[in-house]
Formats: sequence, C-alpha cells, structure tokens
Amino acid sequence: MKKATEYVYVAAGVLFLTFQTSCQPLRPETEENDVKLFGLGLNEKNKLAGAGWIKEPLQLDREYVSPEEKARHEEFGEIIRRYQIERTQHNGGIKRGFHAKQLGCTLGRFQVLDQIPSELQQGIFMPGTSYEVMGRFSSGLGTIEKDAELDVKGLALKLLNIEGPKLIQSKLPNENLPNSRSVDFTMTNVPTFGTKNSTDFMEFAKAAHDGNKGPFLLKHPIALQRLAGSVTRKIGDLALESFWSGGASRIGPKTMKFRVAPCDGRKQFSPTRKVTENYYRESLQEHLNSESVCYDFYVQMQLDPYKQPIENPQEFWKESETPSILMAKVTFDKQDLAKNDALCERITFHPWNTIAAHQPLGEVNRARLFIYHASSEERSKSGIQFDPPNF
Ligand code: HEM
Repeated sequence: MKKATEYVYVAAGVLFLTFQTSCQPLRPETEENDVKLFGLGLNEKNKLAGAGWIKEPLQLDREYVSPEEKARHEEFGEIIRRYQIERTQHNGGIKRGFHAKQLGCTLGRFQVLDQIPSELQQGIFMPGTSYEVMGRFSSGLGTIEKDAELDVKGLALKLLNIEGPKLIQSKLPNENLPNSRSVDFTMTNVPTFGTKNSTDFMEFAKAAHDGNKGPFLLKHPIALQRLAGSVTRKIGDLALESFWSGGASRIGPKTMKFRVAPCDGRKQFSPTRKVTENYYRESLQEHLNSESVCYDFYVQMQLDPYKQPIENPQEFWKESETPSILMAKVTFDKQDLAKNDALCERITFHPWNTIAAHQPLGEVNRARLFIYHASSEERSKSGIQFDPPNF
C-alpha cells in the first residue's frame, strides 16, 4: 500500500513541477536571473552555491568547511550502521547501507587516451596509461528490492595496482585500515546528486528506511525534480546507461566532476520485455554475452565557483558553460557475471579510496568519508578490504 502511495506522490510531484517550471523557473537559468536574484546579497548568492553561511565571495577550487560538520557526519555513520542491522532479515544478511543490491560485478580495462590537455595530466590521468578495473553495478536503496522498484542505479569503478598513499588512511588515521593499491570512482545514473547537503540526504535515508519517501519528496521539490527524470525513465540495457559523479573532486590543483557515457554515443532504449525481479542484471549479462560493454570517461572543469559550485552537488554543471572533456575508455569484455559476484560483495568501493590528486570535495563528499567507513565496517566484520585478492 505504501508503495502505491509513493507512486501517487511522485506522479503528483512531477505534475506539480512540470506546471510550476513551465510558469516560473525553480532556480535561475540565465545570467539575467542570476543578477536579479544575486542582487539580494552575497550571502544569498552563496546559499545557492550551498555555502550560505560563508560571508566572503566564493573562490575557484576552494572548499568551505563548516566547523561543526564533522560531529554530524560521524553521527550519520552510526545511523546508517543501525539501519544496516535493522534490515538484516529483509536483506538476508548485513548489506551495504545504500546500494545493497548488486546488479553485476565486472572486470575490464581503463585506458587513458594518448592525448589529453597538459593541465589535465594529473594523478591517474597520464596519457596512454592503462589500468585493470573492476566495476560494480548496483541499485541505490539500502534494501534488496525487485527491479520494478523506482530507484537510482550506481556504477562504482576500482582501478587496480595503483601504488602510493591513499586519502582514506590519512583522513581516518586512528582506524585499523589496510593499505590500498586501488583508486575508486563512484557514480549514479542521475546527472546531479539528489540533495544539496548530507543532512537532507539523511532525511531521505530515514524516509526510505521507514518506507515512506513520498512526504520527503514533496518537501524537497528540487530533489524530486532531480530524481524524477532518472528513476522513472525505463532502462532497456543497464550497460547503455550514463553515470555521473554528483560531487566534485580534485584533478591536481583544479576541480572536476566526472562521468561515463556509452561509447560512440549509443542510446538507451525501453525494455522490450517485462521488468522482472532481476531484469537489470539479466540485461547486463545479455549484453556481455554478445559484446563488450564500453564507456567514455569524461571530466568537466570548474570554471566559475557559482555556476559550478563545489559545496552544492544538486547544481548541474551545464555543458554549455563547462564542456565535457574525453579522458579515457572503460571496457568490460564478454564475461560471466556470476564469477565475480562474491568479489564485489566483499570489498569496499569508497570515494576516499583515492590519491591526493583526486581528493573528493564538498560537504556531501566529506560526510561520505565517515558514512562509507561505518557501512563497510559493519558488513565486513573480519576487516575492511579495498583490494581484491590476487591483484
Ligand atoms: C550524503 C550522501 C551519501 C550517503 C549518505 C551515501 C551512502 C552510501 C553508503 C552507506 C554506501 C555503501 C558503502 C559500503 O558499504 O561500501 C554507498 C554506496 C554507494 N554510493 Fe553513496 N552515499 C552518498 C552520496 C553518494 C554520491 C554523491 C554518489 C555518486 C553520485 C554515490 C554513489 C554510491 C555508489 C555507486 C555506491 C555503491 C558503491 C559500491 O558499489 O560498493 N553516493 N553510499
């Protein structure tokens, strides 16, 4: 019954937003509107960029860390841990706090292009370099549901055999974490993150945990707007989805967002048969039975701290203002998904399992440091493991 109510809420919300946006934009879309709205004052302008409490003008490539946020982020980790435990029976064991349902675990190659702009030759992006890569496809919720459930999809990439210190160890120095020889990139099939900060997202987490997301979505119309198009869109072949980073990260001294899109501009299509309980895994396997899965890996650069804010991942970085730059190809050759399932279930993909050149940025990413740690620790009682064995 709750599920049916949720569909009604989402449908009503979409109608409401369609009507509202056709009459009056929800947020400034033009320079002219920006000026009018920003005429309200610096703090208002900063608020739109997710950092309303900052009194000074925002600067390029700069984070704004609130002094009280760390305690809040640690508490969020403990809440997620509690949810994981409470869902044990439903999920058939302790699973990830989000992205619990694994849709496929793939092995392949991440090939950096031979030619990329010199200022972007940072960290892992050295021209011509190639890495073994693992991909974990997932559904976003922290509970295992049938594929007909409205939900975002995730793709986490793990580039293997990368030596050197990783941020996860330096940022959580007192934890008993193993050394890592990998670098992770996490993405979802939504162009922007659903909420402007981690507090709102945790409100969503509570609503999802209580099985009552409708009121949350109506209270947060921008979250609904950002999610509606992606979660209600029909996916015929999971391998033909695009995935976005949501948040920003470093690329050397500069700031980027990253995303992957199917190679050669291949387009998604609607399912040609009924969406069964495990439709997305089946569609991925069907694709991998007949041909490789291939993605183009792009970055977008921060060129203006208000148009491409770091602290508010709900803001879309417009292609017209910061065009995507092709950096690498990700290829998963034909393979049997069942072979790698246990591997991906066991290991941790973590936005902070990365090198300093690609540090995650912004409040939501700072929260993820503690939240993913708690979730990983809870499900890996024998110890967090960043790297697959034998690599
Ligand atoms: C405050 C915001 C967020 C919270 C609370 C959150 C929470 C979580 C948790 C608890 C996990 C499971 C971690 C584990 O046990 O390994 C997870 C996994 C994941 N998250 Fe988030 N997340 C947030 C933001 C994001 C963003 C911005 C993205 C990217 C757009 C993202 C994409 C993913 C993906 C792809 C996974 C699955 C990783 C895997 O396959 O192991 N999350 N998230």
